[in-house]
Amino acid sequence: MYNKIERTVRKWLPENVQPECVEKVGLQIVTERQERVLKNPNSYIDYGYSFPGVNLTKQLCLESVRELYATQGLRPVVADLGAGFGTMTWKLLAAGAQVDAFEKQVPTAKELQKRLTSMDKELWSGEDLNDILRVYAKNALSELENPEFENRYDVIWVSQMLHFLTPDEMNQLVQLFKKILKTGGMIFIEMNSPQTLQSLDPLKLIEHSVENAKKLKFEYPGFLCVNAATLINHNTSQIDGKMVVSVFDQEQMQTKSIPIEGNAFGVGYLGHSNSHDNEQYLAQFMKPGYQYSVNRFYQTANWFDDEIALDTFEKAGFETACYYYGSDGQKYYTRSTLNDKDAVALSIFLKKSSQLELDEKPKELSVVLKYGIFKANHHEYLLVEAKQFCREDVQYESLLKAIENKDYALALRKASAAASLPLVRLLLKFSKKLAFDINQPSPSNGLTALDWIRNTDDRNVPNKQEIIGILERYGALTKDALQLLSAAQQVL
Ligand SMILES: C[S@@+](CC[C@H](N)C(=O)[O-])C[C@H]1O[C@@H](n2cnc3c(N)ncnc32)[C@H](O)[C@@H]1O
Repeated sequence: MYNKIERTVRKWLPENVQPECVEKVGLQIVTERQERVLKNPNSYIDYGYSFPGVNLTKQLCLESVRELYATQGLRPVVADLGAGFGTMTWKLLAAGAQVDAFEKQVPTAKELQKRLTSMDKELWSGEDLNDILRVYAKNALSELENPEFENRYDVIWVSQMLHFLTPDEMNQLVQLFKKILKTGGMIFIEMNSPQTLQSLDPLKLIEHSVENAKKLKFEYPGFLCVNAATLINHNTSQIDGKMVVSVFDQEQMQTKSIPIEGNAFGVGYLGHSNSHDNEQYLAQFMKPGYQYSVNRFYQTANWFDDEIALDTFEKAGFETACYYYGSDGQKYYTRSTLNDKDAVALSIFLKKSSQLELDEKPKELSVVLKYGIFKANHHEYLLVEAKQFCREDVQYESLLKAIENKDYALALRKASAAASLPLVRLLLKFSKKLAFDINQPSPSNGLTALDWIRNTDDRNVPNKQEIIGILERYGALTKDALQLLSAAQQVL
């Protein structure tokens, strides 16, 4: 494993670093993993809600930093928002960045500074940490309003922080992104999505809540209050003497007066049961006997799925690409290729669209990830995603042909007849962008996409109700309803 880490580290460390430095960085990554993920019993280093390791998104961000450093010859300026204990901050510095780290919990920010100061400065080519790192123990949202940050950043890194923001704070941050990002700059975001805890949520409470909130047309349908304890342990019914329920959406939170500030880093805690207070909590970090107790928190969460993320950031004038990554952190998935067990987080990659060269190249995810974002060619994008899902399966040959021939309505009927939830979902996602009629009837028998799934045998189709539900949400009608509608229109 160590050799593999060294190989990937070489891809993001500046080209001219000494081999000893590559080794030190690799070793630090392995150590962090042992302490955090494998919970080495001899180590009392706490990572709280910080996430070490280098997943796909971190790798891409670090490679971009290295490239900017190589082309500009100067350290690119990077903002690390909600930096936690700095597990990405030090890697950004090692990749060649100068970093502004924002962390609103003062003790956590102090700990970040302390940890990085104690690291070997060879990791950042011997430069003085004070010259390349500024730590702001501040709320990033209010601090970044300061004019000194205008057009300051080449790269913005935001990991596992955005889902703590309320809808108003989200709106503020989106505007700030536009202000503080330099021309041609890039933003990398990773955050929890409604799919993140799906393996813990067999009742699909989170997904249903988000879908419900979408129907109600909330501005941020992913804004939920989730009680992780009830998801982790279904027998839990009380925490600290309070009734707990797993998921509330925005409307339910309002009617039940669930406090927005009841989120993971506020009310929740990791550590001893009496360690709500951060100062005290931090004092216990390194002590023997320290125990994790991860099953005792609930959080408000702005959990974006790809549809919400695209909508939010595209409306704000960003070009976007979204993907999920799986539990190994290395493979990426789109919503249609995601399977139930393998979804850890959603990553979003943004660029200011007004500053892009609008090229008609396909927005194929692998291309986007390597070279940046191009203006979407929705037909190509749909085809690439559909092919990725169908692979060599002969069952879907004619469906792919229909997409190739731009007969998307036919493809939707075929996906529905085949009872393929991912393909129905994928085609519906593109229905507006490609402006096709999801109710176009079959020329032979007049059946619509909705009829095809309704007419399938229940016993053989586990996803039948879900497919009907999503089709209806997009406004799908049956052949009979279409005829009634057209008769009514003739009367009028
Ligand atoms: C879950 S941790 C993630 C830490 C780190 N980014 C990582 O991925 O390892 C989220 C951090 O964001 C910080 N945070 C949340 N809202 C913030 C804000 N408005 N300004 C600065 N920090 C914030 C929290 O205090 C917490 O330390």
